[in-house]
Amino acid sequence: MSESLATVSYIGATILFILSLGGLSHPDTSRRGNLYGMIGMTIAVLATVFGPRVTPAGLTWIIAAMVVGGSVGLYAARTVKMTQMPELVALMHSLVGLAACLVGFANYFDPAAASEFQGAAKSIHEVEIYVGILIGAVTFSGSIIAFGKLSGKIGGKPLLLPGRHLLNLAGLLVVIWFGGAFMHAESVSAGMVPLIVMTAIALLFGIHMVMAIGGADMPVVVSMLNSYSGWAAAATGFMLSNDLLIVTGALVGSSGAILSYIMCRAMNRNFISVIAGGFGTGGGTVVAKADGEPVGEVVAVSATETAELLREAKNVIIVPGYGMAVAQAQHTVYEITQHLRAMGVNVRFGIHPVAGRMPGHMNVLLAEAKVPYDIVMEMDEINADFPDTDVAMVIGANDIVNPAAQEDPTSPIAGMPVLEVWKAKTSIVMKRSMASGYAGVDNPLFYKENNRMLFGDAKKMLEEVFVALKS
Ligand code: TAP
Repeated sequence: MSESLATVSYIGATILFILSLGGLSHPDTSRRGNLYGMIGMTIAVLATVFGPRVTPAGLTWIIAAMVVGGSVGLYAARTVKMTQMPELVALMHSLVGLAACLVGFANYFDPAAASEFQGAAKSIHEVEIYVGILIGAVTFSGSIIAFGKLSGKIGGKPLLLPGRHLLNLAGLLVVIWFGGAFMHAESVSAGMVPLIVMTAIALLFGIHMVMAIGGADMPVVVSMLNSYSGWAAAATGFMLSNDLLIVTGALVGSSGAILSYIMCRAMNRNFISVIAGGFGTGGGTVVAKADGEPVGEVVAVSATETAELLREAKNVIIVPGYGMAVAQAQHTVYEITQHLRAMGVNVRFGIHPVAGRMPGHMNVLLAEAKVPYDIVMEMDEINADFPDTDVAMVIGANDIVNPAAQEDPTSPIAGMPVLEVWKAKTSIVMKRSMASGYAGVDNPLFYKENNRMLFGDAKKMLEEVFVALKS
């Protein structure tokens, strides 16, 4: 493929990526957006693999690597469960970081790449290598820790080392100092020492940064590492002088940054305090008072009683959360919705921006069950309607409906906007036990007078509710 054809293909791919991001911003156009992205990526890969910079000997290696990598990717995509998606994404971000590091080191060793640059261009190239490896290493280790936290292999509790801000600052100063040493190194072997020291510090920084972040802030970490992986890819693009990689990396980096901002706003958090860490505790524990007694009384109901409450209601709001994803209850939820709507009940869904474990998690599940978009409302659109609602049905959600966020200034999630389900005439919480949610905080909703608990697996309980509704 000639240089000019490769350039034209790159421009085409860039346009398709921009159209893809535009399409993904709305459920109606998201399929088209995905399609644009797939076509763009195919063009990009073909133009790179068969482009002017790949030698025939290199082509064999690339194709072999693509077959291996493609097969692993295909297998992972086909077998991964929807609830494991955030972990898979975190793992993939780590690979982007690792690739940036490896390309950086390879570029530094490569005599051909070194002889390409002289004078100021050589200094710029070295800065690209240093910064590229730095971002790559932080992304790599940070994403591995995020993978561990999201998959429950590492606890959600923040690790707060004494003087952690000072430690980070000291690390930054050492990285800058070694950056100077790297730029002034006489030879490649002399430059390797500062480069390796910086990489080690960057890896430790990535681990420390994500370990210090509490369970409640993980949504921001997921989108932040998404953004970092974009910048790592852009840095790789600079090192390889590949314009498409620079543009694509910048698109991912900036869209991830915007998403992080949206997530921070959804949780009423400021970005700097997220990075500073310490918000939220461990996850999945049964919260008890210091003397070991559970906090307050709860009223349990049966599936039949739930069906009764739903049958008598005029307005129902369903609030799905992570538990709906675990139980794969979305199809049964929709069957109940259709049944109630046929009976003249106004049923709508209230979606919290950080419900589940990844941005848009609930929207994807509801779309899969073919729930029409016009009854799926965002938190801000529906929150004012709870006082006029007869039944708020909470399906496997916990943190996103926790009134402590508003009522208890000492709560770890104080200030986080939540769906105000307790303002409905009756709220019904469907979950298996009294265990806390991801943020690991107790939920006073369960003990409110107008709240009922339907204990059990969401899918099983909903099936029972559906049977009772039809009888
Ligand atoms: P959570 O607060 O995590 O609560 C989910 C609840 O579902 C749990 O309390 C659990 O209680 C219940 N559950 C689990 N399996 C179930 C099943 N099979 N059937 C019925 N219930 C089941 O979820 P949420 O309300 O969706 O809030 C999301 C949380 O995750 C927030 O803290 C958010 O910050 C965090 N987070 C979000 C993201 C993104 S980007 N969305 C990323 C990382 C973290 P039982 O064990 O008692 O059943």
